[in-house]
Amino acid sequence: MTDIGVMNGPNLGRLGRRQPEIYGRLGLADIERDLLGEFPEVTFHFFQSNHEGRLIDQLEAWADQGIRRVVINPGALTHTSYALRDAIEGLDLWVVEVHLSNIYRREGFRAHSVIAPVARGQISGLGALGYRLAVRYLLDEAGVEA
Ligand code: DQA
Repeated sequence: MTDIGVMNGPNLGRLGRRQPEIYGRLGLADIERDLLGEFPEVTFHFFQSNHEGRLIDQLEAWADQGIRRVVINPGALTHTSYALRDAIEGLDLWVVEVHLSNIYRREGFRAHSVIAPVARGQISGLGALGYRLAVRYLLDEAGVEA
């Protein structure tokens, strides 16, 4: 069994209802259910919060439990949060940054991620599929059969 954390930041708890033309019609529970179905060999730890500090607390808790592989969609904190970036770097996590929308073809402020330099990689614009691809990568890196 491989443990993977799936973290979603501010406003992502309202997926499915929030600007579906941009973020799609799936809710967060749908995305989580999809991952559970697709990767039965993974023990998933799902967490969503609108609060920066709670996200950091959770990353620390995961690291303390030995959960170092994390898929994260930080929402708008992607563009602003040095604190979240420092947590990822300081905890030595293997993070894949996921965005449902393509952050490079929207408003200019979204085109910069302060998280990307401390992530293993970034998936942007592939909708909910991005979460699956991120998990796939983390599993392959872990050398686990899927
Ligand atoms: C997002 C993109 C961010 O710019 C935005 O603030 C979000 C969602 C995405 O998944 O496309 O909340 O991370």
